[in-house]
This record gives sequence, structure tokens and C-alpha cells, in this order.
Amino acid sequence: MNILLVEDDRDSREYLAGFLGKHGHAVTECGNGKDALDLINNREFHMVLSDINIPGMSGLDILRSLPSPPPGRYPDVVLFTGYDDVELAIEAIRAGAYDYFLKPINIKELTVVVERVAKHQSLLPENKVLNKKIDETAEAATKETKRELKLLQEAYAQAMGAGEVIIASETMKNIFQLAEKYHADRTIPVLIQGETGTGKEVVARHIHYGKGNTAAPFVDINCAAISPGMFESELFGYEKGTFTGGLPKGKKGKIDLALGGTIFLDEIAELSMDLQAKLLRFIQEKEFYRVGGLKKIKADIRIICATNVNIEESIKKNSFRQDLYYRLNLGLIHIPPLRERKEEIIPLAEALIRQYAQKRKKRFCTISDSASRILLSHHWPGNVRELKNVMEWISFMHDGPEVKPSHLNILTRNKPAGNGDKRILNTETFSLPEGSFNIEEFNNMVVAKALEMHKGNKAQAARYLGISRRMLYCRLERMEKRYHPE
Ligand SMILES: Nc1ncnc2c1ncn2[C@@H]1O[C@H](COP(=O)(O)OP(=O)(O)OP(=O)(O)O)[C@@H](O)[C@H]1O
Ligand SMILES: [Mg+2]
Repeated sequence: MNILLVEDDRDSREYLAGFLGKHGHAVTECGNGKDALDLINNREFHMVLSDINIPGMSGLDILRSLPSPPPGRYPDVVLFTGYDDVELAIEAIRAGAYDYFLKPINIKELTVVVERVAKHQSLLPENKVLNKKIDETAEAATKETKRELKLLQEAYAQAMGAGEVIIASETMKNIFQLAEKYHADRTIPVLIQGETGTGKEVVARHIHYGKGNTAAPFVDINCAAISPGMFESELFGYEKGTFTGGLPKGKKGKIDLALGGTIFLDEIAELSMDLQAKLLRFIQEKEFYRVGGLKKIKADIRIICATNVNIEESIKKNSFRQDLYYRLNLGLIHIPPLRERKEEIIPLAEALIRQYAQKRKKRFCTISDSASRILLSHHWPGNVRELKNVMEWISFMHDGPEVKPSHLNILTRNKPAGNGDKRILNTETFSLPEGSFNIEEFNNMVVAKALEMHKGNKAQAARYLGISRRMLYCRLERMEKRYHPE
């Protein structure tokens, strides 16, 4: 080994140098700290063996002055010290010294330390290679972890309904580009208008999740499904003792669940005027009170609303506040009905039938020309949702490879019947089939027909059926679960 020996006491230096030389080491002798540092900076040593007390600079200072990272080989520093300096030696070890021993130097001890240093130095190149490998592996693992995390985020967004969006027209492309812009700026409230089934919720989720790079909550509230008396406490929560029968500790609201994320208020036009005023205040101030509470609570939440009614007409009819509308329509998205985006019908139908065929292990992969003509001429009152249901039904009932007109009976069967059409249910003369009859299935069909008759307007359909909107929502939810159990 190349050893630098730093000792001001000449006798002991010569003695040590002789001993180390006899053991095959090349020893450079030096009597003060400054020369020692010069030597270390200009030559490569395996080991620096130094007294802790030397003129000009202590052994500890030498250690601290070693360049980091070293330009070439990094010497191991071993210090020798008197009893009085043991604390200094311990400090030296903390500062990175390889070892220390006490004076007078015990030759046996010195031999052991020198051998250990020799071994350590011989392992250094190997260590360097290993360290490099470890660094590379860690970097690859980080890359892999990042990729894994991205996949997880995408899967999460997909599971939350932000995936599997089919964009099949310029109109929808522009809408989704706009959604991405809104995703980037959470301060803009967004109002999405469009008929039932056009994809308002799909767009809302896209605004929230973007490309799947957020794990913040998306909380949806259907304003029509919550009774007006309960809405405020559902949204803002309530303090203890506010209601008889309320939870003893009070309850947090949906806004608490959505902190840091998005609250999606569906069917916003169904909110009563006084609740609209409370919502407006919340949007403006980003603060709210729990029902029965006195403390203002801050909330960082993005607001997205959706409606299938024409709000401007609701404003004229005095059922929607103009100031709230102006506040909400800062980010306005209008999704046209499917019949006005005809270029999407076939690509959507094809993509959907392929998805369902794959799920059900059927062969469907395309749509025949004559079937396409039928799909294009249909009015699609239920929009993409209706198209989706039709394709799912076909994949369930038939097998491909091609969707044919005969598979589309479901559309002609569902056509709204004109007056005098014998398919209108005559409630006085109808008869039931022999054997058995599934009343649940029948009720579902009646609900679906009533919705279709009223172009998806749930309030009108509920009125027509003589049931409350809540009841209609419950049934629709049951139907949704039944037909889309996953
Ligand atoms: N571009 C699209 N790609 C794939 N699926 C879509 C697309 N647009 C809508 N859908 C599907 O159509 C169905 C209806 O969409 P969504 O629930 O977003 O409509 P909506 O406008 O919110 O309807 P409603 O007013 O009745 O609540 C959903 O199953 C959704 O996944
Ligand atoms: Mg919706």
C-alpha cells in the first residue's frame, strides 16, 4: 500500500516507517499538517496514518479537509492519540476516520489495523462497481415504480368511471379538450348542459380525473333525488342537536367528503330557489356553515353542475337564479344530443358492440350497412345511454360477426306508439300471459317507456306515472344495478 505517515516526532516516525516498509508498504513521511494535505491532494494514498496532534493542523483537520468526493482513490485515515485526546479521536471516527489507536503504538495492533485497511482498500473498486449497480437498480426500480403508479392511477380513474371514453366526432373532441383545460384550473366552476344520456357525467369525471392523474375525491349529488328539506344538511352536514333523531355527534356533509376534490351537482335545475342562494354563497365564498352551526368552515372544492333542462328558460320562468347561472356558466359545456352528432352513431355503436362482445365472448365486430341505416335514422331520445343499452342487449341475445337489421327489433319495438297504435296498453282490455308473469320486469319496462315518452325528463316521467321523483330514482338505480351489475 501507499501510506502517508504524518508525525512530527522524528524518532517515532522513522521507527514506524521502517516497520511499515519492512512489511512491503511504500511509506511517504511528513512532519506537519500543511505538507500532509499538499501530498494528499497531489498523490494517491491507500492510507494516511497520522498523529492527532501535529504542528500547523491537527489530524482531525486533515480528515476534514479531504476532498469529497475524492478525485481518485480515497485514503483511509487512521489516527493515533494520547490518553488525553480520546474524545478527539472519537470525534474523528464520527467525522469519517477509519480507526484510531492509543500511543504508545502497539506494533501488533498496528499490524492488524494496516491489514484491515489493505483489505478495505482492495475492496474499494469492487464496492464502487457494486454501488453503481445498486444506484442503477434503484433508478430502474424507481422508473418501474413510477410506471406501476401510473398504471394504478389509470386503473383507479377507470374504475371511477373516467375511462373507456369513446371520442368519435370533432364536437366531442372539442368538448374533451375543453374538459382538459378545466381540469387544469380547479377554480372555474363548470356547468354541463345536455339531454339525458349524452355523457354529462362522463365529461364531469373527465374534468375531475383528467388523464387519471388525481386521487382526489369526486363526489356526486343528484339534486333531484334528495328531498329539499334534507338537501342542505346532506351538502353541508349538521351540528349535534340540530334535528330530533339526528346523530348525537352531528354529521359531516358531502362537501367534507369532497375536500380537495370535486363536487358534482347533477340536475342542478331541480334545486329550490333558497337552496340555490345558499349554493351561490358557498361558491362565492368557498366557506360554509353546517346546519345549526356557527363556525364558518373553509372548503377547497371544485364545483361541476349538470342539467338536462334549458336553464335560460328556467330563468325566464323564475325557477332558476340568474346570478347563480352567471356564476356557474363561467365554464359552460353544451353536449348536443346524439341525433345531432350523427357521425358518431356508427363508430360509437361499433366500439360498444366490440366491447360487449369481448366481455360476453361473442364474435360481433362490425355493423352491416342496412343495420347502420336503421341506427342512423333512429331518434335516440336516450342518447349514448340508449345506444349503449341496445348494443348490450344485442350482445346478450345474439351472436355475430355482424349486427344485422333483425337484431335491431328492439328499436322498432321501442318506437313511441302514435295514437291508435294497437301496441298502446289498453288498461281495460289487456290480458296476462299463461304460466307466469314477471311484474318487476314489466314495471321496469313501463318506467323505461315513460322516460322515453318524455324524452328522458325524469320529473315529467314521474308525474306521468304518478310516483314521486324519489321513487323513480330508486327504481332507476335498481334497474341500473340489475342491468349493469358490475
Ligand atoms: N363518449 C362516450 N364514450 C363512452 N361511453 C359514453 C360516452 N358518452 C356517454 N357514455 C355512456 O353513456 C351513459 C350515459 O352517460 P352519462 O351518465 O354521462 O349521461 P348523462 O348526460 O349524465 O345522463 P343523465 O342526464 O341521464 O344523468 C353512461 O353509461 C356512459 O358511460
Ligand atoms: Mg348524469
